[in-house]
Amino acid sequence: MKILKHFVYAMLPLVFVLVHLVHAQDQSGFISLDCGLPKDSRYSEPTTKIDYISDAPFISSGISKSIFQAYKANQPRHVGLVRSFPQGSRNCYKLKVRRAAKYLIRATFLYGNYDGLNKLPQFDLHLGLNKWATVNFSSVNLITMREIIHITSQSHLQICLININSGTPFISALELRPLKNNTYVTSTGSLALAYRYDIGSTANQSYRYPYDLLDRLWTPYTQKDWTTVTTSHTVDDNNASVYDSYQVPSIVMSTSAAPLKARGGSASWEFYWEPADLTTKYYVYWHFAELQKLQSNQSRAFQVTLNGKLWYPKTFFPTYLKSRTLHSNWASPVSSYNFSLVQLANSTLPPILNAFEVYTVIELFSQPETDQNDVDAINNIKSTYRVSRNWQGDPCLPTEYSWAGVNCNHEYVDNPRIISLNLSSSGLTGEITSYISSLAMLESLDLSNNTLIGSVPESLYRLQKLSVLNLKGNMLTGSVPAELIERSKNGFLSLSVEENQGLCASFSCKKKKNILIPLVSSIGALLVLLSAAAIFVAPAWKKQHGIDARSTVQNTSLEPKQRQFTYSEVLKITNNFERILGKGGFGTVYHGLIKSTDVAVKMLSSSSTEGYHQFQAEVKLLMRVYHRNLTSLVGYCHEGTRIALIYEYMANGNLQSYLSAENTNENVLSWQGRIQIALDAAQGLEYLHNGCEPPIVHRDVKTSNILLARNFQAKLADFGLSKIFPTDSDTHVSTKVAGTPGYLDPEYYKTNRLNEKSDVYSFGVVLLEIITSRPAISRSQERAHISQWVSYVVADGDIRSVIDPRLEGDFEVNSVWKAVEIAMACVSPTSFQRPSMNQVVAELKDCLAIEEARKNHIPLIHAAEADSGEKFYVASSTGSINPLPR
Ligand SMILES: *[C@@H]1O[C@H](CO)[C@@H](O)[C@H](O)[C@H]1NC(C)=O
Ligand SMILES: *[C@@H]1O[C@H](CO)[C@@H](O)[C@H](O)[C@H]1NC(C)=O
Ligand SMILES: *[C@@H]1O[C@H](CO)[C@@H](O)[C@H](O)[C@H]1NC(C)=O
Ligand SMILES: *[C@@H]1O[C@H](CO)[C@@H](O)[C@H](O)[C@H]1NC(C)=O
Ligand SMILES: *[C@@H]1O[C@H](CO)[C@@H](O)[C@H](O)[C@H]1NC(C)=O
Ligand SMILES: *[C@@H]1O[C@H](CO)[C@@H](O)[C@H](O)[C@H]1NC(C)=O
Ligand SMILES: *[C@@H]1O[C@H](CO)[C@@H](O)[C@H](O)[C@H]1NC(C)=O
Ligand SMILES: *[C@@H]1O[C@H](CO)[C@@H](O)[C@H](O)[C@H]1NC(C)=O
Ligand SMILES: *[C@@H]1O[C@H](CO)[C@@H](O)[C@H](O)[C@H]1NC(C)=O
Repeated sequence: MKILKHFVYAMLPLVFVLVHLVHAQDQSGFISLDCGLPKDSRYSEPTTKIDYISDAPFISSGISKSIFQAYKANQPRHVGLVRSFPQGSRNCYKLKVRRAAKYLIRATFLYGNYDGLNKLPQFDLHLGLNKWATVNFSSVNLITMREIIHITSQSHLQICLININSGTPFISALELRPLKNNTYVTSTGSLALAYRYDIGSTANQSYRYPYDLLDRLWTPYTQKDWTTVTTSHTVDDNNASVYDSYQVPSIVMSTSAAPLKARGGSASWEFYWEPADLTTKYYVYWHFAELQKLQSNQSRAFQVTLNGKLWYPKTFFPTYLKSRTLHSNWASPVSSYNFSLVQLANSTLPPILNAFEVYTVIELFSQPETDQNDVDAINNIKSTYRVSRNWQGDPCLPTEYSWAGVNCNHEYVDNPRIISLNLSSSGLTGEITSYISSLAMLESLDLSNNTLIGSVPESLYRLQKLSVLNLKGNMLTGSVPAELIERSKNGFLSLSVEENQGLCASFSCKKKKNILIPLVSSIGALLVLLSAAAIFVAPAWKKQHGIDARSTVQNTSLEPKQRQFTYSEVLKITNNFERILGKGGFGTVYHGLIKSTDVAVKMLSSSSTEGYHQFQAEVKLLMRVYHRNLTSLVGYCHEGTRIALIYEYMANGNLQSYLSAENTNENVLSWQGRIQIALDAAQGLEYLHNGCEPPIVHRDVKTSNILLARNFQAKLADFGLSKIFPTDSDTHVSTKVAGTPGYLDPEYYKTNRLNEKSDVYSFGVVLLEIITSRPAISRSQERAHISQWVSYVVADGDIRSVIDPRLEGDFEVNSVWKAVEIAMACVSPTSFQRPSMNQVVAELKDCLAIEEARKNHIPLIHAAEADSGEKFYVASSTGSINPLPR
């Protein structure tokens, strides 16, 4: 019967999600994992009615085992199976949680001789990167628990079992319960449970959910010389008082105990303990309620002291049938704890106590985890190749558990970064995944001795720091990207490509094998991609391919100094500044020709040469920045006050001129074209923020700085210039703020503190312009700034009044809604409300997909493969796209 049930559950997961939601409303926010339960199984615990699910979706390792049948008697079902971890020194659960939320986290263990060894193991538990507890056992058939109250810092939580060479780690159940953030408040640290007692209980039974809505476990505790005081009435939370919020269940509060009177006539409680070490800090929670209806000549009043001093500053009178909790919001370590509840002289009744809890403080360092882009990339690589190594938890941290074959640099300011990946002899098959190119700080990549096929992805050129690339002993074909060959020839990259099927690592073999020509003609995009790099290596490249017929010199290396031009060369290139292409913030741009290739030459206004001393270093840095959505810097000139920057030429000019009202109808950019341009620009900006070290803040993102290539691929121009030409803000005097009115981040304007989010703001303005074709600021309007205008019009829900009327309805409304939502998020007044460019890129991709789906007549409701299984999307009533709960 049981097997059949599991089968049915597995077949109908969605139906059961719905059923689950209906009958388990008051378990909302609970995460209840029965570890070792077969994948997709679920059940409701008979005694508590807590709904347990399998832990399989939250961990990729470990094996399911059953405890000995004899030990299952009188135990809850969720400890009958365990997940055991015979392999790897660290195995981690990854759970989705609410960020900055308080949770009670409970790990449960029952050994039950599940491995037949009859040997009690010992191991550690980590929460994220920090040790939380050691797990040890006193008996084969006793449940051990570890509980911690913790505020999450991120939207995921890692709970790891660590092998400390004292037996195999295992776990029976893992439970998370959301708590209110105004309870169990500490000055620092998280709270690990030491004791939680239900005093005076006559039931010889622990209580938890559904009695306790927060699912704390209350263990009965009583002693022979105590007088129990109980009531059959309900004890309420006194929600009118500040002590109300602990929600101790009535069944726990309705029993209490009082100490017997001492001979002197007064009575007191004493709780005495010595901490294991002198640095341990404790938080104590006393829960009181009067259970006796007092006569007029009766009174119960007492004081709470710690080591003889008043701990609670007032006299305490329990309230009839109302819970009150005494606690402090700070703790300091002392060498011994002697808590007393002391009866007052004029009190006729002794102190009573209904329940209490003691926690120790665990300081969890909010150690920065590995850079999220790197983590995403390496996890994608892991799943692409189904890497069988023990790759779990954070790839770089703690350092003693960093992933095999992964090396990290911990010196980066914010988060550790992955700098080397060695998957040599790892049985990899398939193509080289482009996820590798997302490990932006990678210095060394070893994929040798695998059976990789296909070509070397172009995107590897993005790895600016790559100095070792070993592809030896695979079945790769095609040619190594020109950019990498170039770097290898210049001695920046050690490149090994031997023992492959037909992998070519020089310029000449391309011509021989005739690979370039068919590739270029069939994949137009590749041409574009190459052109960014090709311009940079233009002289050498063209010689090789006979484009420049006059030259026969076989010189493939391009020394950095060759990218420096003299002023007289600049005169020649621009034909004495014959044709002006435009005027920008930093100077005038002229058309030029270098060996029959069009270039754009920016002459920088030379009113002041101060601050130019770093010019050369900065320009060299910029020349190393390559991305298909950034205009490439081909060379520069620096002779006294004559300063020029030479860029690749962008045939279709800038985006502003395409959006402006003067633009005639025949040249109107389609909606899809607009989103593609926005996505291109976003990717360029994302690369400046995340792919460059140190990150580059553009400071002047605007439509006139987004240039369009012949095929309308968009590239950002002028990045890094504000760094070269520091404004006054670099002297910390905020008299002048770089940027263009309308695009300027209001927060930056106020605080003069610049960061990547300032660019996000400007990008939001650009996106609004792309949507509306209105200028950033229209002085004739009441709502002068475009963001004010859009939010005013959108408030009526009328998206069609927002979008450029020249599109004449030729767009998918949901795609436009989404674009507006992205843009409005970007122009949020405070930087922390704005998305990162990473998120913007992802959202714009969705936006583009929606529009493309319309064009291809794909229905909007569709299932898409996502990272960890299926995600279903539907269009909600507002037109935005929301993932359905699973
Ligand atoms: C677990 O280990 C701690 C510290 O070594 C010890 O104090 C405790 O008694 C042990 N608990 C059990 C159940 O063996
Ligand atoms: C507690 O949570 C509420 C909302 O859930 C939030 O408004 C409040 O600021 C939080 N308080 C603290 C101290 O974090
Ligand atoms: C309490 O219950 C346990 C088993 O659950 C039993 O062994 C014990 O004798 C009981 N104690 C009392 C006082 O009933
Ligand atoms: C708690 O608050 C609710 C709503 O404010 C009120 O109806 C109820 O009487 C209160 N209970 C107590 C015990 O004060
Ligand atoms: C309180 O008053 C009751 C009668 O109302 C009496 O029986 C009792 O002894 C008195 N107790 C004390 C402590 O005075
Ligand atoms: C604890 O404190 C009480 C009262 O302050 C005192 O009577 C008692 O001796 C103390 N116990 C210990 C073990 O210090
Ligand atoms: C008992 O004495 C305390 C002061 O020590 C006082 O605050 C309280 O009101 C008195 N209670 C009664 C019932 O007299
Ligand atoms: C990668 O690992 C293999 C064996 O584990 C080693 O021989 C090789 O040198 C490593 N490669 C690099 C680049 O360190
Ligand atoms: C290549 O990998 C295989 C396993 O995939 C291994 O047996 C062999 O020793 C490796 N060869 C070299 C030269 O590392």
